[in-house]
Amino acid sequence: QRHIRVVLTNGVAGVGKTFSVQKFTLDWAEGSENQDVSLLVLLSFRELNLIRDEQYSLLTLLHVFHPTLQKVTAEKLAVCKVLFIFDGLDESRLSLDFINRKVVSDVTQKSSVNELLTNLIQGNLLPSALVWITSRPAAANQIPPSCVDRVTEVRGFTDPQKEEYFRRRSSDEELSNRTISHIKTSRSLHIMCGVPVFCWITATVLEHMLTTEQRGELPKTMTDLYSHFLLVQTKRKKNKYHEGHETSPQELTEADREVLLKLGRLAFEHLEKGNIMFYQEDLEQCGLDVTEALVYSGLCTEIFKRESVIFQKTVYCFVHLSVQEFLAAVYIFHCFTNRNTQVLKDFLEDTMEKSLQSKNGHLDLFVRFLHGLSLESNQRLLGGLLGQTENSPEIIQRVINNLKRMDTYDISPDRSINIFHCLMEMNDHSVHQEIQEFLKSENRSEQRLSGIQCSALAYMLQMSEEVLDELDLKKYRASTKGKQRLIPADFSDLPKVSYDSLIIAYFICIHRLSGCELSVIHCNTIAAALKSNPSHLRQLDLSDNYLENLGVEVVSAGLESPHCRLETLRLDNCELTPSSCSSLASALKSNPSHLRDLDLSHNKLQDSGVKELCGFLQSPDCRLETLRLKNCSLSEISCSSLVSALKSNPSHLRKLDLSENDLQDSGVKDLCGFLQSPDCRLETLRLSKCSVTHERCVCLASVLKSGSSHLRELDLSRNKLKDLGVRKLCFGLNSTNCRLETLGLVHCHLSLIDGLSSKKQRLRGCGLSEISCSSLVSALKSNPSHLRELDLSRNDLKDSDLKPLLDLVEDPDYRLQTVRSVSGVSPCCFHQYCPKHS
Ligand SMILES: *[C@@H]1O[C@H](CO)[C@@H](O)[C@H](O)[C@H]1NC(C)=O
Ligand SMILES: *[C@@H]1O[C@H](CO)[C@@H](O)[C@H](O)[C@H]1NC(C)=O
Ligand SMILES: *[C@@H]1O[C@H](CO)[C@@H](O)[C@H](O)[C@H]1NC(C)=O
Repeated sequence: QRHIRVVLTNGVAGVGKTFSVQKFTLDWAEGSENQDVSLLVLLSFRELNLIRDEQYSLLTLLHVFHPTLQKVTAEKLAVCKVLFIFDGLDESRLSLDFINRKVVSDVTQKSSVNELLTNLIQGNLLPSALVWITSRPAAANQIPPSCVDRVTEVRGFTDPQKEEYFRRRSSDEELSNRTISHIKTSRSLHIMCGVPVFCWITATVLEHMLTTEQRGELPKTMTDLYSHFLLVQTKRKKNKYHEGHETSPQELTEADREVLLKLGRLAFEHLEKGNIMFYQEDLEQCGLDVTEALVYSGLCTEIFKRESVIFQKTVYCFVHLSVQEFLAAVYIFHCFTNRNTQVLKDFLEDTMEKSLQSKNGHLDLFVRFLHGLSLESNQRLLGGLLGQTENSPEIIQRVINNLKRMDTYDISPDRSINIFHCLMEMNDHSVHQEIQEFLKSENRSEQRLSGIQCSALAYMLQMSEEVLDELDLKKYRASTKGKQRLIPADFSDLPKVSYDSLIIAYFICIHRLSGCELSVIHCNTIAAALKSNPSHLRQLDLSDNYLENLGVEVVSAGLESPHCRLETLRLDNCELTPSSCSSLASALKSNPSHLRDLDLSHNKLQDSGVKELCGFLQSPDCRLETLRLKNCSLSEISCSSLVSALKSNPSHLRKLDLSENDLQDSGVKDLCGFLQSPDCRLETLRLSKCSVTHERCVCLASVLKSGSSHLRELDLSRNKLKDLGVRKLCFGLNSTNCRLETLGLVHCHLSLIDGLSSKKQRLRGCGLSEISCSSLVSALKSNPSHLRELDLSRNDLKDSDLKPLLDLVEDPDYRLQTVRSVSGVSPCCFHQYCPKHS
């Protein structure tokens, strides 16, 4: 509804953000798309970094980066529709400062690049310009959310697209088939292939291994795969530069090793700082000779690449962030073996702890590789690169035990899942097996899960190909933190995992999430699950969570997606307000046809909230069957809005719970009007504690009498109906048209003269009154065939009053099976009368 000026597009490394903006730009330039934009300016942060200390005006900046725009003047700029695309915020070395900024509003005013950008984004400078920024998720928070009108995401490949990639890559169908089937046998490889660049790495390795008569097993762990990748790429370069000297890929020359270790140092030092782009001086600091060594070794194109040349400066980067992480791990492992000042276990433990402190997981894959490298099999593969380690099976076992014990109390779910990944990299499947046993066992709810087991369970649920029916966090015994771990905090922070398939796989199984503390981030994940295509989520129960407005807004964004097929939504006791109800209602209205069951009980929705909801109810496509609005601070006003909405779309709702709202008699009167309308199909109506008095029992009785009513269950408990009310109701009950099966009259002040205190009740033992009971008995006698259940609890009834009713239960001519009357009847006398239903 608002004008969209600034868009932020997120996506993990290698997923295709730059490709997207380039395709967009090309389509525009070729005249095929977005022709309303008259000027499109594509700038990458890696280029802007080069002039970060210089002063430019926006106009000269354009001229410098795009000399073809020399003729564009400030006047032209002000009147044409301009789109600025800033690609790769994560690569920015500018310090975008949105707080202490100088206002720049003139396109000819000189300023720092940082100030130009913040002013452009905030709309001070060239407010008519559109701005599109791409970023990896961890860096996206540099732009304040208030400046962004829309956030989008590049998701990478779906499962069928992964297969398509491998099929299209090779004309050898058998090779593609073998590649695909191997990837499917390794869950972590399969997941990772959601990122296109990872498909390329996997394909490079597998195609090489499958076509060159390699002995040995195909790689299954990440470390294994990346070790092979390094060797394959080094071998390729050999073929390219030393034709005819085919060496075994196991052999790295001294020169190779030297270059790789220097690259490793570059990789590591910049990984710590979060840098993925390097300039010549960065390379030189690591002893890399830009002109000779890199070009000579050929590695420059295979794992490390030269990007663009601008202002006579070359930019370098690894072909993918994960390659940087792998080489960083190789380098650090090498340093460790060479210095040998620490024992392996302590070394790995220190690195692990450091990675667990990271908010965005920038060291996750690095520590995974590091643990993988501690295995002899991987060390053998990389030959002399790592140096000699002393890794007896005992030492490895100690590392494994340590990982399992690691105190994971205060770290985020995603970081702790990484501990589990490290175990998998070390080929330790024990926790994995424990959880498989756990999932099969009958006594799941009696077993207490440890921290690492929760992480493993979370991971396995994410990876599960099977659709589990239910994940009910209440059924698992673990600490709150442990349970929280079962809900991934934010997949977008896991740069190497396919966002899509993870969430789908995981949330398919979540039918109940209730009772744990949910954060907005969790809501984001849930929204993503609702939006995913196809979306498997059918039931979502977020009851008893502190959602508040923001959480509801996020979930609503999921609900309005055309892919969302949710059938049951429970938001019982979620701190919803009238305004959150409004965003929920408008989301439901825009995608009305799937939801069958909606529970918004115990939220202060108030009449204004319900009014919004009515927009959804009266939508002709709304098929809602159950609506629960218990204790929502509603008055008779809500009744009348509900009734008028339901009258315009009357034939779907079966159950309505309005208990514990102050509806008063006028509200009930409106409801009676609806119940008597011929299209009304309502079967259950709960009006417990709604301030209904005996006055309204007349209209309820006429509903029961009218042949058209479908009502089977009516709960009028906790209303001051008194005997008079019950007697009026009986005029409906005794009608042969009445099909009521269950009637609730708990605590209805039956047979109590107003004001009689509980003290008096106690004095009298069982209370007064046969009046109500005898009216009920005679009503039932004249219409014996429907009522099965009658709840008279907490009325002041005597055993003798109830006896005639209980006799009906015993009598085979009556359908009545259950009479409840908790206080006022001693259990033994109840038992005596009603042994089979006691
Ligand atoms: C490859 O797999 C497809 C689909 O599973 C199958 O139809 C095809 O025959 C297979 N081709 C070869 C050469 O194995
Ligand atoms: C649960 O059942 C398994 C066997 O399936 C048994 O080994 C374990 O002791 C049981 N645990 C509890 C807490 O009852
Ligand atoms: C009604 O809902 C409010 C929250 O809106 C809650 O605090 C209160 O305890 C509920 N009352 C009952 C009787 O459940």
